[in-house]
Amino acid sequence: MKHQPIGIFDSGLGGLTVAKAIQKELPSETLIYFGDTARIPYGTKSPDTIIRYSLQIARFLIKKEKIKCLVVACNTASAWALNDLRREFQIPILGVIEPGAQAAIDATRNNRIGVIGTEGTVESGAYVEAIRRLRPKAKVLMKACPLFVPLVEEGKLSGSVTESVALEYLKPLLKEKIDTLVLGCTHYPLLKKTLSRLAGSKIRIVDSATETAKSLHRNLEMQGIELSGRGGSKYFVSDLSRKFKEQAQRFLGRPIHRVEKVFIEKY
Ligand code: DGL
Repeated sequence: MKHQPIGIFDSGLGGLTVAKAIQKELPSETLIYFGDTARIPYGTKSPDTIIRYSLQIARFLIKKEKIKCLVVACNTASAWALNDLRREFQIPILGVIEPGAQAAIDATRNNRIGVIGTEGTVESGAYVEAIRRLRPKAKVLMKACPLFVPLVEEGKLSGSVTESVALEYLKPLLKEKIDTLVLGCTHYPLLKKTLSRLAGSKIRIVDSATETAKSLHRNLEMQGIELSGRGGSKYFVSDLSRKFKEQAQRFLGRPIHRVEKVFIEKY
């Protein structure tokens, strides 16, 4: 089992931010990434659809690519599909919400935590539950930011349009005196500079990517399936659009030369 790859999936290419953190934390492992580029966004879809999509992707990664564990890099899929995935498959399955909640608890001083994410993630209440489980007295303020995903997909990471949208979203959270802001979506780490400038230096901004990679490391160690190999990665998508190269580079910080398209509906 040790020699099998780690699977990771997202609704699109945003999850490459998590893949990047995993590659840094576990350079000896082989990573198989699947981006559901044909069906993004998940953030506006109903829980039933998100669960169905997630199960199809997990079947592909587990049955076809023989992964030893699965990381759900998508916050929306982590919020809605984790229980169903764990019911259907026996391998270790990790989401990004618990690690994100842990990072928030480690960062906050006044126990007032803001979480931004897609409409689906906010609606699920998953972050509130995960943070309160760790610290019952924490006050968690959620805000859906539906315009952030298209802005990031378009490469609008700063500038007047992005800033005025961000300010509109952040205002109610800042009014509540949060001292920590969780980026509860794969795309938001790319807006970190803009968000931290608008939020001010007193607010700590946390994303779940690094914490997820650490938690995966601990998990592999515990199960005795950590590999000390040469590392590597393989990329799959459900649609290969003209923008793939540019977007992959944006999220991963380096180009992806080889990618394969998969007809995911058949799984
Ligand atoms: N990957 C999604 C998430 O982290 C954002 C993009 C989408 O809506 O599918 O919630």
